[in-house]
Amino acid sequence: MIANPSTKYQRFVAPNYQNRTWPNKEITEAPRWLSSDLRDGNQSLIEPMDVEKKIRMFDLLVECGFKEIEVGFPSASDTEFNFIRKLIDENRIPEDVTIQVLTQSRQELIERTFESLKGAKQVIVHCYNAVSPTFRRVVFNMDKEQIKALAVKGAELIKAESLKYPDTKWTFEYSPEIFSDTELEFSLEVSEAVCDVYQPTPDNKVILNLPATVEVSTPNVYADQIEWFCDHITRRDSVVISLHTHNDRGCAVAATELGLMAGADRVEGCLFGHGERTGNVDIVTVAMNMYSQGIDPKLNFGKMNTVVREVEYCTDIPVHPRHPYAGELVFTAFSGSHQDAIRKGLSDIKDNPDQFWKVPYLPIDPFDVGRSYEAVIRVNSQSGKGGVTYLLEEDHGIELPRRLQIEFSKVAQMFADGEGVELTSDRLYQIFEAEYFNAKPALEIQTPIDIEEDTEGNTHMKLTLKTPLGDKSLDATGNGPISALVNGVNTLFGWDVDVVDYNEHARSKGSSAHAVSYVEMQIDNKTLFGAATHANTSRSSLKAVISALNRAIDKGLIALK
Ligand code: KIV
Ligand code: ZN
Repeated sequence: MIANPSTKYQRFVAPNYQNRTWPNKEITEAPRWLSSDLRDGNQSLIEPMDVEKKIRMFDLLVECGFKEIEVGFPSASDTEFNFIRKLIDENRIPEDVTIQVLTQSRQELIERTFESLKGAKQVIVHCYNAVSPTFRRVVFNMDKEQIKALAVKGAELIKAESLKYPDTKWTFEYSPEIFSDTELEFSLEVSEAVCDVYQPTPDNKVILNLPATVEVSTPNVYADQIEWFCDHITRRDSVVISLHTHNDRGCAVAATELGLMAGADRVEGCLFGHGERTGNVDIVTVAMNMYSQGIDPKLNFGKMNTVVREVEYCTDIPVHPRHPYAGELVFTAFSGSHQDAIRKGLSDIKDNPDQFWKVPYLPIDPFDVGRSYEAVIRVNSQSGKGGVTYLLEEDHGIELPRRLQIEFSKVAQMFADGEGVELTSDRLYQIFEAEYFNAKPALEIQTPIDIEEDTEGNTHMKLTLKTPLGDKSLDATGNGPISALVNGVNTLFGWDVDVVDYNEHARSKGSSAHAVSYVEMQIDNKTLFGAATHANTSRSSLKAVISALNRAIDKGLIALK
């Protein structure tokens, strides 16, 4: 890079439209959408789509709800021509869908374009020519009059050609290319001249598409350009103002949204922002942004994963894992504090299902785009207790007491560090099971267990404990089964262990009608947990004590002697 970029790059001089009103406007309804995936997306792919992929893309776009679909540049290649013929000949275009084709302003191209469309019910014919100063000078060496004449000629040829096919409903579209980098007055002059040819009416409008072919400034400048154009075009009620933004500065979504606020009626773009160079505007994001504001976008991305898979298949380009609304990671929290907040937000929504969606870190309900909640909270070596707790509870019905959440999240982190990968919900459960339910079995209670309560409320317990030193008979008393067992092992092995907390709950998932018990034990000034599950609550609590003791033996806190 050079030290002083101002010697090489000129700042874009913005129109600074003082009558602008768009900053006070809001987007309140969906625009008309036009997908150009089958043109831009296709032409800008390393591996262009073959007819089979084009059909899949077309069907996908129809399924997502697009009513206007650009199907190609039929005069540019036989593949595009044949694809369009296939759509028409095989009746693949639904009644309420209008196809659009692109052409340049040349007689032979226009004739070939119309030939490809024979028999179509409704078509938008889109003609464009470059009008910007750079193109006029560098590419065409033409003056303004010549450029305007080219646009008018194209319109005349298209209109004349369309008259040969009266059974098709024709709509005409014109784009002054690189509108974003052209004198506004000249774009307007050429567009007016094109409209003079087409003679649009409120019932038969012309589409004026105003492309930011290359994004040259901040989105507010594009919005000013659009509002200026909307205010100055005559026959405003007979034209549809269409936006076509590219993403050279990474602002295509913002430019489109501000362009809609500035008065545009229609948006051209691609799924996930495919298209030349940095791509066209990403229609998925613009539509989902509307949805997140409570506006029906008139497109349906309820099966987002399918849309991602299909687009990846057709384009052979992966969707970025952080792509808004669609990326693998966008509804995912690894960070403990985020997980905790999400967990609380989700349970708040569960408790108050009629309130508006307000869940920390989740702008929309992942469920609405076909994502499951399991994928939201994920655990890696940097995660905190929130995620671990959430996954065990949601997926496995294990409701850890608070201090056990802290203890087990450290165990989980150790595994995540060791394995160097994210821990799935099932792996997490396996680790919990191994650590607590199946804690290395130094001690094991043998059945039968003889428990009796006397008239003063004391519990007398007799059982056999299997130990590595051989079977031991335990005969003890306590104020309940747990304390009897603890007293018994203290006597048998000369320990001084105590139970400081006990929790239990019925297990709602994973297996039916089981109790899950958790004991927190004090052993040699340290506390540690045991956990167990059993169909019988009392057995479950005793097993939890044994689980804690086994963990303590394994960690060398107590020894068998
Ligand atoms: O970006 C552009 O200017 C285009 C035109 C063909 C409308 O794609
Ligand atoms: Zn474009």
